[in-house]
Amino acid sequence: MRGHGGPVRGIAVSPDGATAMTVSFDQSAIRWTLATATAEAVLRGHEGAVNAVVALPDGGFATAGDDGRILLWPPGSRAPALAIQAGAAPIAALALAPDGTLLAAAGWDGSIRLWSMDGAARGERLGHQGPVSDVAFRPDGTLASTGADATLRLWPSDGSAPTVLRFDTPLHHVRVAPDGQMVVAGADGTLRFLDAAGQEQGRLEVAPTPVIALALAPDGSRLAAGGVRGSVSLVELATRRITASLVGPGVPVWSLAFTPDGKEILTGGADRLVRRWDAASGAPIGPNPPPVGEDPLAAFAGERGAEVFRACAACHTLTADGGNRAGPTLHGLFGRRIASVPDYPYSPGLKELDIVWNAETLTQLFTLGPMRYTPGTKMPEQTIGTAEDLAALIEFLRRATAD
Ligand code: HEC
Repeated sequence: MRGHGGPVRGIAVSPDGATAMTVSFDQSAIRWTLATATAEAVLRGHEGAVNAVVALPDGGFATAGDDGRILLWPPGSRAPALAIQAGAAPIAALALAPDGTLLAAAGWDGSIRLWSMDGAARGERLGHQGPVSDVAFRPDGTLASTGADATLRLWPSDGSAPTVLRFDTPLHHVRVAPDGQMVVAGADGTLRFLDAAGQEQGRLEVAPTPVIALALAPDGSRLAAGGVRGSVSLVELATRRITASLVGPGVPVWSLAFTPDGKEILTGGADRLVRRWDAASGAPIGPNPPPVGEDPLAAFAGERGAEVFRACAACHTLTADGGNRAGPTLHGLFGRRIASVPDYPYSPGLKELDIVWNAETLTQLFTLGPMRYTPGTKMPEQTIGTAEDLAALIEFLRRATAD
């Protein structure tokens, strides 16, 4: 799924499996409809990279980023219902308590701050020396946290002193299985398996390089661990063995999520893409068929411009009946004023720009980039390889968006 203008830093899937939210260094969050692999909305609210996202029980999501804020996005929303300024330091990770009432935010300043879902502060947990890299709640409400200081800390819910477990490598991630078992991973590419009491039960080296993404299947049976070289290993928890590897393009995988049914894995990485995989076999799931009717690009098969447009297709349709997705329909684009599709909720400010779309203004849009040419836009930065590709895209748009 293409859409982000920067590395994909976090992925979460709603409890019903219908919707995913991805967050990126491009400062946006994108809400996706998984059945059609289309983008429903590009959400802007953070000032800076967005690093973390968790799914909420009601189908909404919470995001957090470098701006130290937590934003709550109700299902279907285009604006946050609540913004919590959790501190000045960037937030690296978020966790939701098992009863759904509490969010924990891992801060680069070494703090962990707790918030209730109405934005009330519920205390902080201080002790990590240096950035907190990850947080995860255990079934009993204990909070597990990992840090660059090579410790795993277990914070009882009553606020009493934590148990501190020391390791020999900076830790990047912790995940908790439904039975309380924990898995930690870090800079040395090795997973460490701990029982509910915190006793180490085993180790497994999954990569020669740091583990930078870790996800656990909802039933706790399997783990996915992603590395800097782009390798993702599937690990069976019971046997602590690698059962499959996802073979991607070799770019760092920064984010991983299982779907709630455990059947699919989503990965996001430095190539700005969200990829989907069969969680049992590790096989890639190809681009999904378009939702209704024929593939709108079929008539242009083999044309370079149609290929380039695949970067836009998750967010934009081309035809009158295609309707709006995350972005407005591009039907009738040539000669159209900016921000003039009647039923599309444009960003404020776009309507004031004096732009009419044609070959020249579209060239500007993608040469200067959406942020510079149309300040205030929600559209993520789009990179189009070469001037030839851009010319082919524009020629394709001219024909494909006409009546
Ligand atoms: C992740 C979703 C996303 C992707 C991918 C994307 N766009 Fe957009 N695009 C948007 C959004 C959202 C807007 C509306 C901007 C706003 O209101 O802030 C937009 C606006 C536009 C506009 C202005 C439309 C108008 O009515 O004024 C054009 C033109 C456009 N996009 C073309 C493209 C092209 C061509 C590509 C592929 C190279 C592309 N977009 C990729 C989301 C996207």
